[in-house]
Parts: sequence; structure tokens; C-alpha cells
Amino acid sequence: MNQLSETISSEQIPSGEPERQYAFMRKMRELTRQREEAFGRPLTCRIQTFGCQMNARDSEKLLGILKEMGYHESDSEKADFVLYNTCTVRDNADQKVYGHLGQLVSIKKKNPDMVVALCGCMMQEASAVEKIKKSYRFVDIIFGTHNIYKLAELMYRQATQKAMVVDVWDAAGDIVEELPVERKYPFKSGVNIMFGCNNFCSYCIVPYVRGRERSRKPEDIIAEIRELVSQGVIEIMLLGQNVNSYGKNLEKPVSFAELLRQVNEIEGLKRIRFMTSHPKDLSDDLIAAMRDCDKVCRHLHLPVQSGSSRLLKIMNRRYTKEQYLALVERIRAAIPDIALTTDIIVGFPGETEEDFEETLDVVRRVRYDSAFTFLYSKRQGTPAADMQDQVPEETAKDRFNRLLKEVQRTAGEVCGRYGGAVQDVLVECRNDHRQGYVTGRTSGNYLVHFPGDDFMIGKIIPVRLVESKGFYYMGMPEKNMEVQQ
Ligand code: SAH
Ligand code: SF4
Ligand code: F3S
Repeated sequence: MNQLSETISSEQIPSGEPERQYAFMRKMRELTRQREEAFGRPLTCRIQTFGCQMNARDSEKLLGILKEMGYHESDSEKADFVLYNTCTVRDNADQKVYGHLGQLVSIKKKNPDMVVALCGCMMQEASAVEKIKKSYRFVDIIFGTHNIYKLAELMYRQATQKAMVVDVWDAAGDIVEELPVERKYPFKSGVNIMFGCNNFCSYCIVPYVRGRERSRKPEDIIAEIRELVSQGVIEIMLLGQNVNSYGKNLEKPVSFAELLRQVNEIEGLKRIRFMTSHPKDLSDDLIAAMRDCDKVCRHLHLPVQSGSSRLLKIMNRRYTKEQYLALVERIRAAIPDIALTTDIIVGFPGETEEDFEETLDVVRRVRYDSAFTFLYSKRQGTPAADMQDQVPEETAKDRFNRLLKEVQRTAGEVCGRYGGAVQDVLVECRNDHRQGYVTGRTSGNYLVHFPGDDFMIGKIIPVRLVESKGFYYMGMPEKNMEVQQ
């Protein structure tokens, strides 16, 4: 690689972004071409994404850059360039990455030219980077969450110098836009509206690895969505760790409710989703906007984390059980057919049986459509990691199982409520398990499987929900259906 790089054009590298990155992409493209000639085959890349929708969206941007550099996407880790976009929200997310790295050792031995890179939330932790430098020395590039747009530059640096390239920033720089993106689905897309988080829930590592809250300007968001729609996107998901506090730090503050109203006006767009809402910031104005905007899906993910007001305070969530329940009531009064989902943590330090009963009580009262339940995981550097009374694993696991049962029971009852109705389904893919079937989602985010064909993918189809299977439906497309779009 060193020799090859010497023959690369001496194009001047501009200092401004994104021009600088495009210059590195051109240089890398030359390198790719030379290596392809030398190997007599195309170069492949593989991105493995861990974690949430933010990381999924980041990976689309990373893949866009790789394709621009001439790489072909592969679904195998036996690729010329392997990138893990990591998550560190819970310890098992870290362990998955180490597991994958362990398997890469032998693959890289067979293909020494292979380049291995790690990025994302876990890389923002100095202890993880140290461990990788020490125990996984075959890793070539490490970068974090704040400089993913620099992938081409970092790869170029790695190609021209032999040592491991490590570039992790403590804080975010400017938001760099206008880089290539390779979307997973042609018909739906995530759209970042803000980055980072200022909430510092006492158990959570995200504010430390994603930095302070930064909102994008509404005009940039609207322009991106318009562009996506012109490319055929009909559903977007507005992404942020706490979308309800969107716009507060902008020069000209704009509320999330106002942003929703503006996005709702975009012609050609059919569906709007958003993730994630923090209960403390969910305003009545937002409820009204959700009710009034016809494109906003009838689904709200509203993480409760715990039903105990005592624990919620220690978690620094800044609402009580009563305030949360009252909020749910206001939402349901305004939008009766809304599907509600949540996140719950079990085994937070100091959680007593009484605290846990309060959580069960919330599950029984709210009757969620579904809930993600997590065992508390200690994250070094967060206030909760140093708290006394860490709950014994066995107690936490027992509570976790009891919670899961309650969630399944209540959700099972709730989920049947649309049985027999006809709902619009955005078809996402062919069904893997049943030939002649396709799979899509209702506005309430329920999965529906029904007899259909590839031509339906990416279209909104009215489907009768014939049979509830607990968390999904079997359906039948309406006769004389009129395919919207
Ligand atoms: N910003 C989002 C959540 C991001 S993390 C929000 O505030 O709702 C997704 C979920 O992971 C959280 O809602 C929480 O339930 C869970 N989580 C975060 N830190 C955790 C930890 N240390 N242990 C277990 N679960 C955790
Ligand atoms: Fe973590 Fe709380 Fe921020 Fe969500 S709002 S990312 S749980 S600190
Ligand atoms: Fe994980 Fe980072 Fe998302 S820690 S949950 S990938 S913001």
C-alpha cells in the first residue's frame, strides 16, 4: 500500500468541509482502482452496525463514503474493509463487538491486506480504546462519533502510514453536511434533527459518548427531506436522543411541534415518525401537533424507565409516576388510537420490591403496545455506577422475568384491538419465512404479513388485519385495492 500511495495524484487538499473529504475520496478512489488491478477483483466492504437508529443512520453515511471511494458492499466479514460501528449503552453491546473482533483475527491472517476499522459510541471511551490498542493490535483505524464524516481522510492516512490510526474527539465540531449517503431502503429514511444529549440520566452513557445537544436548522432538515422525497422516500423518521427538546439552542429557537408542522407540509411525503421522546419535555403543543398533522404516525415511543417516583428522581428523569400517567392520559384523550411503546430498566441501584411493584403498576395501567425491557447495566463514569446497593443479579433477573410476563400479557390483550380493521400498510420487504408473502408496518408500527408481491414494496397498501398474533398481524390486501403513492 505504501508504494501504491506514492503514485497518487498530488491534488491539493482544501481545508474547508465537505470539499476536503471529497478530495480524500478521490484520492482513495485512485488507490482502490490500483488495488483492484493488483488483485484482479473488485474491493469489498462490510459495515456491521450495533446500537440505535442514530448509529444505523451514521452507517448509511459511512457506506455512502465507501461507495464513493469505489468499494462494493458485502454481507460477509471476509471483506477488504470491515468497519464496526459500535454501541456502548449496555455492557452486552461492548461484548458483542469484542466477540466479532475475536473472529476477525483468523480472517485477517488469511488476508493481511484487509483493513479493520472501529467507530461509534464505544470508541469515545478511553478504556475501550486502550483495550483494543493492547489486545486487538490488528485493528487499523479507530475513530469516534464526532468525526465519522472524516472516514475517507482517515483511510487515506492509514493507507499511507503503517501505524494504527486513532482519531477520537472529546467534543463535537461543526455539523458537516452534504456528504454521500447510501440508504438501506429506497422508500424510508432516518433524518437527524439533533445530535447529542444534555439530560444525564444517572445510568446512561450516551451524553458522554455523543456530546452536548446540538440541533440542526429547520431549513436544513426540510431541504434534506425534500431531497429524499424527490428520490422516492415516503416515510421519514426524525432522529434525536430527545426530540422534544429540539431547537432550544438554535439562534432562532424553533419547537419540535413547529418542526413537525413544517415537515407535515412537505408534498409527496406520506408518513412521519420520530424517536425518542423524553416525557419531561413532551408539551401540549406537541400533542396538538401530532393530532393535527395527518402524516404523523399513530405511534409514540415514550420511555418510562421506572414506575417509582423515588427511583425516577435518582435516575434524574425529572418526572414522577403521576406526571407520566397524567401525560399518557392527555395523549390518549387527544389521539385515542395512538400506539404507545416504552423502555424500562430493571435492577437500577437501590431498586426495592416496592419500587419494582410501581413499575409493574405502570405497565398494567398504561397497557403498552410493546415495551423494551433492559437489565440495568453499570456504565463506568455515570453517577449510578458509584451508587451503593447495586441490586444482586439474581434479584434483578427475577424481576426482569416478572416484568416481561406482565408486558407480554398486557400487550397481548391490547394488540388484538385492531383485528378485522383495514389499515394502511407500508410494505417494507418480501417475507423471508413464507413464500408469496410480504411484510409491512401500520401507522401504529405494527408488523403485518400478508399475501403480496415485490411490486408492493415501498408502497402503502390497505390491508385487512385478519388475525392478531400478539405482536404482529396476518392480513389480507383489500380487494380492488387502490395502491397509494
Ligand atoms: N434517549 C433515549 C434512549 C437512548 S438509550 C431516551 O432517553 O429515551 C435506549 C434505552 O436504553 C434507554 O431508554 C434505557 O431504557 C436503556 N438504557 C440506557 N442506559 C442503560 C443502562 N445503563 N442499563 C440498562 N439500560 C439502559
Ligand atoms: Fe440517555 Fe437520558 Fe439522554 Fe436518553 S435522555 S440518551 S436515557 S441521558
Ligand atoms: Fe448505543 Fe450510542 Fe445509540 S451508545 S444506543 S449507539 S447513541
